[in-house]
Amino acid sequence: MSKPEILLMGAYPDWDLAELEQHYEVHKIYAAANREAFLAERSAGIRAIATRGELGASAELMRALPKLEIVACYGVGTDAIDLNYARQNRIRVTNTPDVLTADVADFGVALLLAAARKIPQADRFVRTGAWAKGNLELVTRVCGKAVGIVGMGRIGTAVAKRLGGFDCQIGYFDVTRRDDLPYRFVGDLTELARQSEFLIVTLAGGEATKSLVNAAVLGALGADGILVNVARGSTVDETALIDALERRVIKGAALDVFWNEPNIDKRLLSFDNVVLQPHHASGTIETRKAMGKLVRDNLAAHFAGSALPTAVV
Ligand code: 8YV
Repeated sequence: MSKPEILLMGAYPDWDLAELEQHYEVHKIYAAANREAFLAERSAGIRAIATRGELGASAELMRALPKLEIVACYGVGTDAIDLNYARQNRIRVTNTPDVLTADVADFGVALLLAAARKIPQADRFVRTGAWAKGNLELVTRVCGKAVGIVGMGRIGTAVAKRLGGFDCQIGYFDVTRRDDLPYRFVGDLTELARQSEFLIVTLAGGEATKSLVNAAVLGALGADGILVNVARGSTVDETALIDALERRVIKGAALDVFWNEPNIDKRLLSFDNVVLQPHHASGTIETRKAMGKLVRDNLAAHFAGSALPTAVV
């Protein structure tokens, strides 16, 4: 029997690609010189898309694949996949929740420490020999501070748990209050920012959360405030953020996600009060192996006619 055909939207680690190629005919659209021609030649046979969180799958792409049955996302965020189109056209969608929660939460805390304690700047201070000419400026403490978590889902909860170990006072904003958690719920994001020295964004992306962290929220966070984003670039009004960093409306930011990845706004590169990362919060070998396995388990279940382990649609 011939192998089912899969459209692969972006590179996966070699160990995942090798496994996928054993069971499927894999078409790598990201390696094509001409995407339209590549798709036109193969569209009739493709039954699955394997994508990544930031790459998603548009309605236009899905429409071009008449035999499409499933979109498997290597990532928890499905904001870049047109879920309405998938639902209306009975295309299944799966993601990789839970397996990445701990690493993304670790990274949120790491970025907060990096920005507050100026770890990248201090590293440069040593490397450039500046240390021989004087001491590094004093930095900001994290432990014991008021931290606002924007989005108290799986990742937000894991960040809060970690920061409890730092004796931080945790408040959070979400669309729903979590009565099962011991943290302070603040239903108005600007108010949460006012009450917090640090804001950590762990919200799902998409239209509902677009630019939720806006100029007013940043203004309320204030001149001692630091913003951390390990969620989606779209959750923060990036123009307002750049303005706030430039005019020191806030003290600093640590960003793993951006509006335009990987070609981020160049102005961010020139600021000394921002820590920049290449969308890598889930990028550990351990988590990425678990994510790849979950993508393959979902595809295998689908083609075997079994229940999908982590279905979104
Ligand atoms: C990944 C992500 O970096 O889970 C998500 O939604 O964006 C990340 O975990 C991404 O999917 C891998 O490219």
